[in-house]
Amino acid sequence: VQGKGVAALRQHGIVVEVGIEESAAKALNYGFFSRMQRQKPYVRAKMAMSLDGRTAMASKESQWITSEGARQDVQHWRGLSGAIITTAATVHHDNCRLTVRKGTPLFQPLRVVIATQGNVSPTAAIFQQPGKTLVALSANKIPKHSEFSYIALPEKENHIDINALFTYLAKEEQINEILIEAGPTFLGGLLKENVIDELLVYIAPKLLGQEAIPLAYLAPIASLKDCLQGELIACDKIGADCRLILKMNDFGKH
Ligand SMILES: NC(=O)c1ccc[n+]([C@@H]2O[C@H](COP(=O)([O-])OP(=O)(O)OC[C@H]3O[C@@H](n4cnc5c(N)ncnc54)[C@H](OP(=O)(O)O)[C@@H]3O)[C@@H](O)[C@H]2O)c1
Repeated sequence: VQGKGVAALRQHGIVVEVGIEESAAKALNYGFFSRMQRQKPYVRAKMAMSLDGRTAMASKESQWITSEGARQDVQHWRGLSGAIITTAATVHHDNCRLTVRKGTPLFQPLRVVIATQGNVSPTAAIFQQPGKTLVALSANKIPKHSEFSYIALPEKENHIDINALFTYLAKEEQINEILIEAGPTFLGGLLKENVIDELLVYIAPKLLGQEAIPLAYLAPIASLKDCLQGELIACDKIGADCRLILKMNDFGKH
């Protein structure tokens, strides 16, 4: 990454060519480059939504908006990830497991549940799965006794500082790629912080109506010129749904 490996090989008389298939090589290694160059993992956020951009019913019911095919596809992205981040709110509503269940996984990604106040039920399914689940809580809320493993982090605007979590995951857990699987409040917060590198959006050919919950809660945007803009990288039919891949910043662009 810093050219030292190339220099060492050349010093030993080995001919090294650089730059061959550079963009394809980068695409295979976004996570590694991100951790080496930015000291944070590559952050991918997944959302499933309806044609009218809704991610759950007003009752918070969201299982399942998309087809079995799309859910199988998510398994692929989980398998690529070193960690999956969710929130106590999503754990509470969905009792999700967030495990890789496709094929014979060599390891389970680290599961991280954000619960700034430490309020999450240790009996939730996510804590009963193979592999490790870590609760990310505020350093001001360290529990006296805890029934779960946790990492204590500084706060920023009443939530754990997400960049501190990313730094921890890169430095202490050597995580290259993260998959975020949470709801519209967290996604809105992450978009506001501009920390998402890539959005993976599954669109089901369904209309859920305006009472249903949107893709992300964002502060009002008055003018089109102020909108959040992604770059569409891929658009594919997966099962009965459509999968969009969007780059949200310049890092790792093809
Ligand atoms: N369609 C999908 O793909 C999908 C995926 C997952 C969930 N869901 C649905 O989403 C719903 C849950 O969504 P939700 O909006 O209630 O919860 P959420 O977005 O999963 O989580 C909200 C929590 O995120 C935490 N948070 C941390 N940093 C934040 C920041 N910077 N800004 C805002 N929040 C931050 C806050 O908890 P702290 O106070 O602990 O920081 C907040 O209460 C459920 O209905 C679930 O079924 C849908």
